[in-house]
Amino acid sequence: MSDLADQTELQLVAELLQTAPRVAVLTGAGMSAESGIETFRQPQTGLWARYDPMELAHADALARDPKMVTEWYHWRFSRCAHAKPNPGHVALAQLQQLKRDAGGNVDVLTQNIDGLHQAGGALDVVELHGSILRWRCQKTGEKRPIGEVDFSSFPPTSKAGGVLRPDIVLFGEMLPTDAIEAAERAVMSCDVFLTIGTSAVVYPAAGYIDMALSRGVPTVEINPEATPMTGSVTHALRGPSGVVLPELLRRVRD
Ligand code: OAD
Repeated sequence: MSDLADQTELQLVAELLQTAPRVAVLTGAGMSAESGIETFRQPQTGLWARYDPMELAHADALARDPKMVTEWYHWRFSRCAHAKPNPGHVALAQLQQLKRDAGGNVDVLTQNIDGLHQAGGALDVVELHGSILRWRCQKTGEKRPIGEVDFSSFPPTSKAGGVLRPDIVLFGEMLPTDAIEAAERAVMSCDVFLTIGTSAVVYPAAGYIDMALSRGVPTVEINPEATPMTGSVTHALRGPSGVVLPELLRRVRD
């Protein structure tokens, strides 16, 4: 564990997780980095270092050029299609099971659209930014699994003749109301809050960190890099989530 953060901090966090009945976790792209999926804001390699989000991930871009936007998300899906959950996803799901068996819970709130928490075994995942595995008809609102979408031309269309778009949240769009409500409930009732693999700059998701801080519950950041929240959290564990989370789980079980 030499690449890992401070052992004392790790042990303190493990003890917090051991005793806390309810844990809320906010995850971002870094959670899936070890599954081979690009993050957004890393210099050079991040998606937003190579592409302009306003051209591809904004509601106006979809309205202006549905062909380009749906083609890009289809390409992004191809990047996620063969990705497997990494040891961080699996450890988090196992921590959730452990807490549930003891009458508590781990609420997983994710900004990721890749479905890897669920593939790793997590239950009732709150997808704040939707899922690339579902596509939605702009005309009827009907949602279909990606496997049923015909991508022989772009933009794909539904039987009703509407454009099929990924069922995700683009910049300029609201988060789904049920996801916002579930996230707020989780953050307002948690005993410990974890922020994992997110640069914590995109709101409203980053606001859940502020919400936990304002409640005064212990807060933990897991990230190889510092973020704007590092100075505010109770414990900052420096390291990749695919290494830190399995180590925390091992200590919680001890
Ligand atoms: P970012 O790319 O902004 O941040 C990823 C974070 O993950 C950074 O802080 C990295 O240091 C960290 N990281 C990298 N590798 C890691 C690892 N192995 N383990 C843990 N952390 C690691 O991604 P998000 O914060 O998720 O929204 O971005 C938030 C939103 O902005 C996304 O949901 C997306 C994007 O634009 C939309 O497209 C609407």
